[in-house]
Amino acid sequence: MAVATEAITVRHLSKTYATRDGAVAALERTTFSVGEGEFVAVVGPSGCGKSTLLKILAGILASSSGEALLRGTLIAGPRRDIGVVFQSPVLFPWRTVLDNVLLPVDVQRLGRQRHEQVGVDLLALVGLEGFERKYPWELSGGMQQRVAITRALVHDPAMLLMDEPFGALDAMTREHMNLELQRIWLERRKTVLFITHSIPEAVFLADRVLVMTARPGRLLDDIGVWEAVVRAFAIPIFILPPPSQVAMALYRGIASGVYLEHLQYTLLETLLGFIVGSLLGFFLGTAVAMNRWVEFFLYPYIVMFQSLPKVALAPLIVVWFGLGLTSKVINAALVAFFPLLVNTMVGLKSADEDRVSLMRSLAASDAQIFWMLRLPNALPFVMAGLDVAMIFALIGAIVAEFVGAQRGLGMLIQSMNFNMDVSGQFSIL
Ligand SMILES: Nc1ncnc2c1ncn2[C@@H]1O[C@H](COP(=O)(O)OP(=O)(O)OP(=O)(O)O)[C@@H](O)[C@H]1O
Ligand SMILES: [Mg+2]
Repeated sequence: MAVATEAITVRHLSKTYATRDGAVAALERTTFSVGEGEFVAVVGPSGCGKSTLLKILAGILASSSGEALLRGTLIAGPRRDIGVVFQSPVLFPWRTVLDNVLLPVDVQRLGRQRHEQVGVDLLALVGLEGFERKYPWELSGGMQQRVAITRALVHDPAMLLMDEPFGALDAMTREHMNLELQRIWLERRKTVLFITHSIPEAVFLADRVLVMTARPGRLLDDIGVWEAVVRAFAIPIFILPPPSQVAMALYRGIASGVYLEHLQYTLLETLLGFIVGSLLGFFLGTAVAMNRWVEFFLYPYIVMFQSLPKVALAPLIVVWFGLGLTSKVINAALVAFFPLLVNTMVGLKSADEDRVSLMRSLAASDAQIFWMLRLPNALPFVMAGLDVAMIFALIGAIVAEFVGAQRGLGMLIQSMNFNMDVSGQFSIL
C-alpha cells in the first residue's frame, strides 16, 4: 500500500538521559515512519525507551540527536494537532466527565459552544452516553480510560499517541477496549502510534508492529509485509489470513495448552515410527546386502514396494489398526523404513573392492570384513538415511492423523479445516 504522506518520520533518533550515575541511553538511532491514517504498534520490553519515544513525539521531551517530524515539520515543542493518551486516565476529579473531555478545548481556547456537542457525540461513540454530568470517581477504570480517549479526540487531532492506554485494565475490559478502539479507528481513521507490552494486543490492533530491543531501545523488526499484502489486495481470510490473526490463533493455542498437548502426541508417534522404521530398514538392508538369497527373493518386492507412494496407504492402515497410536506409528515407520533400507544397502555394497581384497588376503572372516570394513564404510550413508527418515516419519504421522485420529497436530489441522479456521491452520504450521 503506497502511502502518499508520512504522518510521523523518525530518523536516527537517540535519547540519553543525564543522571547522577552517568548517562543512560534510553533510545538509540531509531528510524521508522508512520503513514497517514496508519495504525502502528510499538512493542518492547520494559524500560526499552517506548515512553521516551512517545514523549519526544508529543513534544514534551527533547531528543539528544537525530530528528523527528510530524507531517514533514520538525517537532520543536508540544503541538495541538496530536492527542495523547497516557497509561492512566489522568482525569481531574473536580471536573465532570464532559468537562474533562473538553479540557483541550479550554486550554487551547477553541470555543466551548462549538465543541460541547462534539464532546457529547464522542462520548456516545465510546459508549458513555448519559455519563456527561458524572464525576470521574463515579466511573469504572475502563470507563475512565474511555473518557481519556475521548479527551484525546475532542479537538480533532490528526494523530493519536497512546502509551499503554489499557495497561492498567483487567483482561476482559482490555479486550473490550481493544474492540472499542478499533471501531473508533475505523470510523475516524486517525494516524495512531500505540505503545503496548502485549504482542496479541499489538497484532490485533495494528497494521504494522514495530519491535524494540531492550535498552537502549532500537528498532528490531517491522512485521508489516505479509499483513500489508493481505490488506492491499484484499485477499480473503480463508485463503491467506493476515499475520495478526495467525498470531492471535497461535497465542490462543499455546496459552490454552492445546497445541502443546497435540504436539507431544505427534512427536511421540513420529519418534516411535522413526525408531521402528529405521531399525527395520537397517536390518533388512543389511540382510539384503550381505546375503545373496535374501537379495534374490526380496529385492524385486522392495523395488516394487518402493515405487508405491507409501502415504497413500494411510487410509488402509487406519482402517486396519484403528484411530489410536498404533496406526500412526505404523504409517510413520513405513515411510521412515525405505530411506534406511536403501541407504544401508548402498552403503554396505559400496565398500572399495581393493579394500575387500586386502581384508581377504589377511584371511579375514566375513564377520570381520563386515564389522571392520563394510559397516564403517556404510555409516555416512546410514546417517543420511536417518536424517531423511526422521522427516518422513513426521510426514507419515501427520498424514495418518489427517485420515483419522483423536489427537495430534494433524487431527487439529483437519478439524480446523472443517471449521474453515485458516488462521488456526497457519498458526500450527
Ligand atoms: N527522566 C529520566 N531520567 C533518567 N532516566 C530515565 C528517565 N526516564 C526514563 N529513563 C530511563 O530510560 C529508560 C527508558 O525509559 P522509558 O520510560 O522510555 O521505558 P519504557 O520502554 O516506556 O518502559 P515501560 O514499558 O516500563 O513503560 C529506562 O531505563 C529508564 O530508567
Ligand atoms: Mg513506558
